[in-house]
Amino acid sequence: MFSRFKKDSPAGTSTPQGGTAPVTQAVDKAAFRNNAPVQPAAQQRVAAEAVAADKEKKRKERLTELKVEIHKRLLEDLNLSALESASEQQLKGEIAALASEALDDMSVALNKEDRLALNQELYDEVMGLGPLEPLLKDETINDILVNGPKRIFIERAGKLQLSDVTFRDERHLLRIIDKIVSAVGRRVDESNPYCDARLQDGSRFNCMIPPIAVDGSLVSIRKFKKDKLKIEDLVRFGAFTEEMAAYLQAAVSCRLNIIVSGGTGSGKTTTLNALSSFIDNHERVLTIEDTAELQLQQVHVGRMESRPANVEGKGAVTQRDCLRNALRMRPDRIIVGETRGEEVIDMLQAMNTGHDGSMTTIHANNPRDAISRLENMVAMAGIEMPLKAVRSQIASAVNLMVQASRLQDGTRRMTSVTEITGMEGEVISMQEVFRFERLGVEPSGKIIGRFNATGIRSAYSDRFRQWGFDLPASIYEPIV
Ligand SMILES: Nc1ncnc2c1ncn2[C@@H]1O[C@H](COP(=O)(O)OP(=O)(O)OP(=O)(O)O)[C@@H](O)[C@H]1O
Ligand SMILES: [Mg+2]
Repeated sequence: MFSRFKKDSPAGTSTPQGGTAPVTQAVDKAAFRNNAPVQPAAQQRVAAEAVAADKEKKRKERLTELKVEIHKRLLEDLNLSALESASEQQLKGEIAALASEALDDMSVALNKEDRLALNQELYDEVMGLGPLEPLLKDETINDILVNGPKRIFIERAGKLQLSDVTFRDERHLLRIIDKIVSAVGRRVDESNPYCDARLQDGSRFNCMIPPIAVDGSLVSIRKFKKDKLKIEDLVRFGAFTEEMAAYLQAAVSCRLNIIVSGGTGSGKTTTLNALSSFIDNHERVLTIEDTAELQLQQVHVGRMESRPANVEGKGAVTQRDCLRNALRMRPDRIIVGETRGEEVIDMLQAMNTGHDGSMTTIHANNPRDAISRLENMVAMAGIEMPLKAVRSQIASAVNLMVQASRLQDGTRRMTSVTEITGMEGEVISMQEVFRFERLGVEPSGKIIGRFNATGIRSAYSDRFRQWGFDLPASIYEPIV
């Protein structure tokens, strides 16, 4: 019957002995016995809710058990090589048919809702990433963080929460991890227990398996957004104001070198991506990333992705390698997704030597901190240079720092726009032009605040004007 998908061997005829017996829904009947003491209404309601929750839990357990058993059979019965050429519709049909056959064999009857849920989970298991599938499909989720098989956290609207999705056990989780990393030609095992990868949909993936991960495998997924947030979206979401956007447009168009600094998940890449939309369409832009996330809209974009060493420790191509090569590729601008190591030297040099308008992000909590990070990275790269020389290199390379922050209430905001104006003695001088001022906290936890100008006029005002960006003086005037 399932000639195209079913293996030739007559599998699936024998009923699995000792397999999944239908799980009886052991509702706590004691509560309904005649001699049970009469309870007040509230107590009865609580008891009824507990019974319902217990019933739902048992239903899920039952579905999981059935899924395990039928999945085992599907792997035996399905002709996996034929799956590749089949359409999603055909596959779903075949899986549903095989599942229904297996349910008949096991003498299990399911209602329509459960059957559909089971079929979907089986499809996700065979063709996709199992329990992660529904989370990957949910567009409101930004991050998926797996702490062992039973704890999967998700981030929605800047807030982390525990999801009700779980893996069956560590082996199940490891199987899915293996599926992901082998799809990109990598491996994780005892000797190589962690790995970066990109999911088929472009999402950024990192995993670490036991024994390095102590309580079960750790997985972090930054979901790929097909429609990256644009400047207008960020203004609408309150990440910054229209005035700030006008200033940033001038800064990018006038080819200032910009560093977006911020903590983890604060919106650095999103900001960088949005800023890049101000780049002129005629310019040749080269992007360098560890995991390609940026989506530039310009016509003339060359994307590079670094590569770790293979199992024999060979073949690594670092961001620094890409950057050095990029300099020979006639770029108008270079964008490095995140500067985190030795590539800092080449980045600063590129910014200093004719590749104005380059941009990158850096992990730091405020603009001063970002400067220290740059200094540290230069030192760690083994460059023996007096601190003052490093600082003057930074001061002449970087023009502008924008700080991205994720606040306690989950909102992401550009909390500071700071210009670098030169050196004063041994210190890099900076001036903040815009900032987010916190005014208080609502009882709900929502942060009350506003964006404000500091009253300092941009040090690049003349340049802006020369390039045709006549920003009104009023945008620099603070609200008091
Ligand atoms: N202003 C914003 N409003 C709402 N969501 C945002 C905003 N900025 C970023 N996001 C979302 O937050 C998530 C994290 O953003 P992003 O990847 O830019 O952070 P990041 O600082 O680069 O993170 P990492 O440190 O992991 O590289 C993304 O899903 C993004 O779509
Ligand atoms: Mg990022």
